[in-house]
Amino acid sequence: MTKSTDTTYDLVVFGATSFVGQILTRYLLETYGVGQSVSWAIAGRSQGKLDKLKGDLGPKGTELPVIIADAADESSLQVMCDQTRVIISTVGPYALYGEPLVQACVRTGTDYCDLTGEVQWIRKMVERYEEEAQSSGARIVHCCGFDSIPSDMGVWFLQNKAEETFGAPCRDVRMRVKVAKGEFSGGTVASMMNVAREAAADPQLRKELANPFSICPPEHRSTTRQPSLKGAEFDKTFNVWLAPFVMGAINTRVVHRSNALQGARYGKEFTYDEAMMTGRGAKGRLASYAIIGGLAGFFTASAIKPTRWLVEKFVPKPGEGPSPEAQKAGFYDLRFVGRTEDGKTIITKVTGDQDPGYGSTGKMLGEAGMCLAFDVPAEQPGGFWTPASLLDGKLLERLTSKAGLTFEVVETR
Ligand SMILES: NC(=O)c1ccc[n+]([C@@H]2O[C@H](COP(=O)([O-])OP(=O)(O)OC[C@H]3O[C@@H](n4cnc5c(N)ncnc54)[C@H](OP(=O)(O)O)[C@@H]3O)[C@@H](O)[C@H]2O)c1
Repeated sequence: MTKSTDTTYDLVVFGATSFVGQILTRYLLETYGVGQSVSWAIAGRSQGKLDKLKGDLGPKGTELPVIIADAADESSLQVMCDQTRVIISTVGPYALYGEPLVQACVRTGTDYCDLTGEVQWIRKMVERYEEEAQSSGARIVHCCGFDSIPSDMGVWFLQNKAEETFGAPCRDVRMRVKVAKGEFSGGTVASMMNVAREAAADPQLRKELANPFSICPPEHRSTTRQPSLKGAEFDKTFNVWLAPFVMGAINTRVVHRSNALQGARYGKEFTYDEAMMTGRGAKGRLASYAIIGGLAGFFTASAIKPTRWLVEKFVPKPGEGPSPEAQKAGFYDLRFVGRTEDGKTIITKVTGDQDPGYGSTGKMLGEAGMCLAFDVPAEQPGGFWTPASLLDGKLLERLTSKAGLTFEVVETR
C-alpha cells in the first residue's frame, strides 16, 4: 500500500535553511522551477529564515510555498507529512533530531530520504520502525549524499557490468578515492563529533560500529573476513600508498545492506572496503601517515570533554561550509576494482563535478527525492531501503543526466 497521490505536494524539503538545504533548494529551483511539473515546498522551524532564503533565491524563490515544522514537535511533523508524498530532510545531526520525523513518515506512509551517515542511528531506526514502514508503505532511504550514493551506486554499476561481461558478479570489490576535493561543513563536523562522543561513552556502540554487517538484516551474515585498512598500505593495482577513508565506515555498511536487500546478489562471501590514494613513493607514504594521525587526533579529541572545545574552536560551526566558488572548484574521482571468484578483473570509475560534501551532495539528494516521487513504482513495498536497492538504474539515469556524475568502465581483463 502506498500513499495516495492526492497530496498538495509531490515533495517537501525539510531543513531548507541548513547549509546543504540551501544548495539543494537552489538546485531544485533551477532544475524544476516552481509550481510546474513538480509541486514542492520548503520547510523548517523558522519563518524568518525561510523568508530570507526565498528572498536570496530571487523572483522564482519568492513563489516557493513554506511549511513551518519543528523537528521536536510531533504534531507539526504530522501536518507536514499529510501534505506531501515525499520528504527530503537535511535536519541533522540526525541522531539528535531525526527520529520524530522518521516516525511521522512511517506512520503516515510518506516516503523519506536524508543525508545521515550515522550508522548507530540508522540501525536504531530500522529496529524500531521497519515493520511499521512495511505496513504503512513508507519507503525510507538514508545516506543519499556523498555518503553513500557514489559508493553504493558505484558497486551496483560495477556488478551490473561484471554480470554482463563475465556472467557473474565480483566477489571482492575495492573502492579507492583518487581525488576528493572539497571541505567539511559545520553540520557534518557536528555529526562526526556526536558519533565520537557517543562511541567513547558506550562500549556496545563501539562494537556495533566495528561490525561491517551492523545495518544488514540479522539473517545476512558472512564468515568471510572483511578487509579494513587501519594503517598505511601500498596498493599494487594503482602503485600508490593508501590511507583509511573516513566515509568508509558508513559506505561499507550501506553497500553490504544493498547486497542483502537484493537477495545477496553480489554473493554471500562478497567483500568490500574503501581507502584513499595518497600518492607514490616516500611522499605518498608520509601523506598516508599524516592522514592517519589527523583522523586519530580528531576522533580522540572530539570524544572527551577536556579537548572537545579545542576541536570546536577550529572546525566550521553549524550553518557554515565551503563558499560557492570552492563548491564549484571541487571534484571527485573514485576507482572501483572488482574481482570475480575465478580471477577476472573489472575496473570502473565514478566522478562527480563540484565538491563531494555539498555541491554534489545537494544535487544527489535532490535527485534521490525526485526518484522516490516519480520513478519508484507504487507496488514497491515500504521499509528501510538503500539507494542502490530501491532507486537502482532509475537513480543512475538521473545522476548522470542531471546531477553531474559519470559512471564508466575503465578496464576489464
Ligand atoms: N551524507 C553526506 O554526504 C552529507 C553531506 C553534507 C551534510 N550531511 C549531513 O546533513 C546534515 C545537515 O548538514 P548542514 O551542514 O547543512 O547542517 P547545518 O547547516 O548545521 O543545518 C542544520 C539544520 O537543522 C535545522 N534544525 C535544527 N534543529 C531543528 C529543529 N528542532 N527543527 C527544525 N529544524 C532544525 C536547522 O534549522 P535553522 O536553519 O532554523 O537553524 C538547520 O536548517 C548534517 O547531519 C550533516 O552531517 C551529510
